[in-house]
Amino acid sequence: MTTQKKLLRIAQAVIQTPTPSNCQPWKIVIDECGLDIFHESKRAKFATLPDDLSVFGLGMISAALELAGGKEGMQTQSTPFLENRADDTPWLRAEFSPTELAEEPSSHINDLLASAIFQRHTDRRDYAGGSLADSVFHEAAHEAETTKGANLYFIDQYPEDYLQLTHEADLAFLEWPELRRDFMKWARFTDKEIAKTRDGDSWRDLLGEKKNLGYYLRLYVWGLTKKRGGVPGWLQKMAPKFVDKLYQLSPVSYNDGAGIGCITTQSASTEELLASGRLAMRIWLLFNARNYAFQPLCNITMFVYSQHRGFWNLPSHLTHHFVNAYSRMQSTFAFSEHELPVFCFRTGMPIGEYPQNERTLRRHDRITQRQSD
Ligand SMILES: Cc1cc2nc3c(=O)[nH]c(=O)nc-3n(C[C@H](O)[C@H](O)[C@H](O)COP(=O)(O)O)c2cc1C
Repeated sequence: MTTQKKLLRIAQAVIQTPTPSNCQPWKIVIDECGLDIFHESKRAKFATLPDDLSVFGLGMISAALELAGGKEGMQTQSTPFLENRADDTPWLRAEFSPTELAEEPSSHINDLLASAIFQRHTDRRDYAGGSLADSVFHEAAHEAETTKGANLYFIDQYPEDYLQLTHEADLAFLEWPELRRDFMKWARFTDKEIAKTRDGDSWRDLLGEKKNLGYYLRLYVWGLTKKRGGVPGWLQKMAPKFVDKLYQLSPVSYNDGAGIGCITTQSASTEELLASGRLAMRIWLLFNARNYAFQPLCNITMFVYSQHRGFWNLPSHLTHHFVNAYSRMQSTFAFSEHELPVFCFRTGMPIGEYPQNERTLRRHDRITQRQSD
């Protein structure tokens, strides 16, 4: 197979990397020697969150590049360029050399993770148990031990206080107009819309297993109103009144799986955010490869991370939702004082096969070939 064909296959694998709300901000440009990864900022999900979520995402991309390269018998050298963070210059350059020339041959675990790239998915259904004693959790811990700058914690029960915090994060999501707009941008209410855009959050995810019917209907009304020229102010003011316990987005309990995981960065430096993203991608692939279901739960981490770093000016009417949120998370997962939570997830045994119609689509315009002069 020619190098160009291999590069295309690598690009097609890398484009499967998950993104928040399936916003797909990454563009891959293939040339004779490798791949450039560009970032399209208007597609990056949270306009209000300075690039950190995208840097984390780039860490996921770099993990995928390494695994996909290995599958093609290539060693990957990735170089991030994160000083400018503009749309017209690449955020990362990847070049490949044949593995025979490489010092380290691809490992068994990398082969396993690479084989899961096209199977990996977000499973938001109820789970059928699982146990933190299962060997996959030892493998995940090993991944974390070998990743400098990122840590991984697990709990097997969802403490009441943390559940409350999840609920508060859901409420804040709906009560903060700016964030709600971000969210609505990616809500896809019909299969026709999904087929056309090939991105975003499917109505199936918003609806969940009919648990969120009220929530879904409410968003649907927002969607319709938005299409007719924006949400009127009177309707916005009424939003908090709709939100009560019946409309909570997060399930009442997540104790149906094996446990909840939390990835932290040690100092939120660029290197450590990249490392956290790499770890998240690798363990997500690991769990799916070992037939464990996986769902990120990032509402709280997003708030706590930004609040703790002083990025987000949470509107004053919402601050009551997050009183002592950092220390509440810290006491839940027992991470140390300087660490910052960036990515939480639930994992457990799936119930049967993952339905094909729940799989999210990828856009066709994310990979291009650079024409040589
Ligand atoms: C950084 C990040 C945060 C995410 N946060 C959530 C979340 O809080 N809740 C959720 O249900 N899915 C979350 N997702 C899952 C995405 O919505 C999902 O990956 C995307 O729609 C693509 O679907 P797929 O994973 O099935 O390929 C997150 C994904 C990433 C990469």
